[in-house]
Amino acid sequence: MAEVKFFGGESVPLEMHKVRIVQKLALPPIERRLAAITEAGNNTFLLRNSDVFMDMLTDSGVNAMSDQQQAAMLVADDSYAGSATYTRLESKLQEIFGMPYFLPAHQGRACENILSQVLVSKGSVVPMNYHFTTTKAHITLNGGTVEELVADSGLEVVSVHPFKGNMDTGKLRDVIGLHGADKIAFVRMEAGTNLIGGQPFSLQNLVDIRKICNEHGLLLVLDASLLADNLHFIKQREADCKALGIREITRRIADQCDIIYFSARKLGCARGGGICIRSEELYRRMRGLVPLYEGFLTYGGMSVREMEALTVGLEETMDEEVINQGPQFIAYMVDELQKRDIPVITPAGGLGCHINAMKFVDHIPQAEYPAGALASALYIAGGIRGMERGTLSEQREPDGREIFANMELVRLALPRRVFTLSQVKYAIDRLEWLYANRRLIGGLAFTEEPEILRFFYGRLKPVSDWQEKLVTKFRADLGDSL
Ligand code: F0G
Repeated sequence: MAEVKFFGGESVPLEMHKVRIVQKLALPPIERRLAAITEAGNNTFLLRNSDVFMDMLTDSGVNAMSDQQQAAMLVADDSYAGSATYTRLESKLQEIFGMPYFLPAHQGRACENILSQVLVSKGSVVPMNYHFTTTKAHITLNGGTVEELVADSGLEVVSVHPFKGNMDTGKLRDVIGLHGADKIAFVRMEAGTNLIGGQPFSLQNLVDIRKICNEHGLLLVLDASLLADNLHFIKQREADCKALGIREITRRIADQCDIIYFSARKLGCARGGGICIRSEELYRRMRGLVPLYEGFLTYGGMSVREMEALTVGLEETMDEEVINQGPQFIAYMVDELQKRDIPVITPAGGLGCHINAMKFVDHIPQAEYPAGALASALYIAGGIRGMERGTLSEQREPDGREIFANMELVRLALPRRVFTLSQVKYAIDRLEWLYANRRLIGGLAFTEEPEILRFFYGRLKPVSDWQEKLVTKFRADLGDSL
């Protein structure tokens, strides 16, 4: 990794790229921001992009592409079947992961649909380090249940543990003992574990999980959507891997797995997805669903242009200087927030910066969605769109009972190579203001609650007039500032 020391001693994440295409942004005044979040039912998913200054909702499909990716998109080979573009993508995946079979899909959840339809049935159990929303929805839709076996350290919000995404091997053995190996559809490991703060697993942990899978004849499936960040952390934090290159670490990870699926909206900075498979038998079982749900076998719902960009993006993921950019920006933001006593998940992970709403607004009960309320307040305070990752993102029990999330987080994603350092500083400043005024923030209540994936399009209202009070305080403190 390029180590650039500043003479002045300051520690800043230095970009190893330059910006050559830009998009103009608008920051509407706070009164408009209040109106916009009200129109959006206090759900940041429902805001219009034209009302958003810093879109930190996600890194999905919004990472900046490289010049090489853009160039590759111009030479795509458009055909329904057998395009050279597909062959290039397939070859790149075979080269990187060393698995012979590949099925394309239009995004990550489409892979989860195919995997779950083929491998999950009524009564199946899927042990995993931690669930992702769409993963769990597909597994439960097919009659299965999810067992979350992340090591206890993964749920400690403030920590110095380098691999909080690790699965607890003891818990895995217990779950296999409890249900019997024949009930287990597959074991799933998620790289850069999204919902607990983009936290990585170690290569050693994956090797240990593989051993247990071998003992019981279980399939090991990797969700590689956030693999780039996880690779960076293994290289940085795992002593045994210090001397390995990113390509070699990637292959060692892949060697432990039977199936690797990914959202190419994250991995490879393009848009699409796919499933890499080691066994021909499994490939044949899944293949039939691709033309049914996705498209023909040589595009799977992706445009050839995106496939070309993905092929280049996958190769660029093997470059340490490319994949360290996101984690470095995130670490900077986490450090600065910690200096201001703002509660964040530590150590800094991948994907984004995760604010601990349970603590930030500890006066709001979980039944009033503290993370949702904080996401709404942050949009009002700064035009910054984050994502609730707490109780709102859970599904109710079949009997209607609310499941309170283990963590109440507001995720502020840092799409790779998108924001400048001054924009990140602005976000830190608005969070600092909000933290000083946190007691003004109140809870939310549903006015419209969809049954499945309610966080995407549910609508909520504030439980009091706290939002107007927040606007008044902003004007008192910051005058006519935007
Ligand atoms: N798995 C993980 C770990 C993810 O983070 C996502 C998406 C998916 C699967 C589904 O992929 O969106 O292409 O269908 N995460 C996005 C996010 C939505 O904002 O974190 P998809």
